[in-house]
Amino acid sequence: MQTFADLFGTAPALAAEAPGRVNLIGEHTDYNGGFVLPTVIPQRTRVELVPRPDANVRVWSANVDEAHRMEQFLLGREAVTHTWLDYVQGVTVALRQRGLHLRGVDMRIESTVPIGSGLSSSAALEVSVARALRAAFDLRLDDVELAMAGKWAENEFVGAPTGIMDQMVVSLGAAGAALFLDTRSLHFDRVPLPPTVELVVIDSGIRHRLVTGEYATRRSQCEEASRRLRVHELRDVPVANLPQVEALDEPFRRRARHVVTEDDRVLQAVAALRANDPAQVGELFYASHASMRDDYEVSVPQVDALVEIASSEHDVYGARLTGGGFGGSIVVLAKRGSGRAVADRVAERYRTECGETPTVLLPA
Ligand code: GLA
Repeated sequence: MQTFADLFGTAPALAAEAPGRVNLIGEHTDYNGGFVLPTVIPQRTRVELVPRPDANVRVWSANVDEAHRMEQFLLGREAVTHTWLDYVQGVTVALRQRGLHLRGVDMRIESTVPIGSGLSSSAALEVSVARALRAAFDLRLDDVELAMAGKWAENEFVGAPTGIMDQMVVSLGAAGAALFLDTRSLHFDRVPLPPTVELVVIDSGIRHRLVTGEYATRRSQCEEASRRLRVHELRDVPVANLPQVEALDEPFRRRARHVVTEDDRVLQAVAALRANDPAQVGELFYASHASMRDDYEVSVPQVDALVEIASSEHDVYGARLTGGGFGGSIVVLAKRGSGRAVADRVAERYRTECGETPTVLLPA
């Protein structure tokens, strides 16, 4: 693999990194103003750079095919390309729009966060690029503002209508704790993972093309459900008001039921983690999965099978689809010390029973 010096003829002036994330619970709640509980994973994106005297940005990525590794653009002349470069351009536009002064850079990017596994490779890219630019040009930008800039890049430049969960946890998360985030106020708390548990993450190997379209559809169904329920966002519907949700027409009834019950499951999961009650957290994982599968309809049969297989393991407390859905990964709450064996057995059974190619991402 080419080093920075191979590419640009000099050593990098600085490097910055950002991790991928796995969401423990609280799925499709962030664009409804609700609660989420993600944590970071060891896989990371690393950006090395040297500032340039002009406004050129030359950027090289190790994670794309050879023909598209080196790209270039001019600050102030960013234009949508529908490639990975848009995440980088989106960040430079977002930062300049905040009145921050950038100059050109030479940049080398390399990532171990898998693309398309539902583990936020895009947020890791946005946040690591923003961190590198912040360090290079002494930008006045705190970690929450940096997350917001990443989200702006994703929503307005790349055009994916996502919520704030991914950029917030990638910017503010820490290993060993989950980030309990109120996506409306952006208030957050770090909830340590009890010493009795360990996380397992397995990529199903399934990728769906329609992800962005389906995601946008779910989002607008939630907006319509809020209008019908006469609330600002589904966050404003307490579980006690579920009877009103049950009175909605389909698909709004099931979509809103998922979001309202999922918000409540996040609160319950935080309490159970704090009480060191992994069995209860595990039950909430299963309930969340069922709700994503049946009410929100963002799972696929292979991912359901993976959760089912994991659930038959003795040392597993719970398992669920993590991330946006339509393929991607599952997160499993397992007994501390059992993760490696559980992951290998579940992956092997999935491979033989479903004929798919899983990847164990955690334990790393
Ligand atoms: C994707 C989005 C997040 C969130 C999840 C679903 O990861 O980027 O904002 O909506 O889907 O919970």
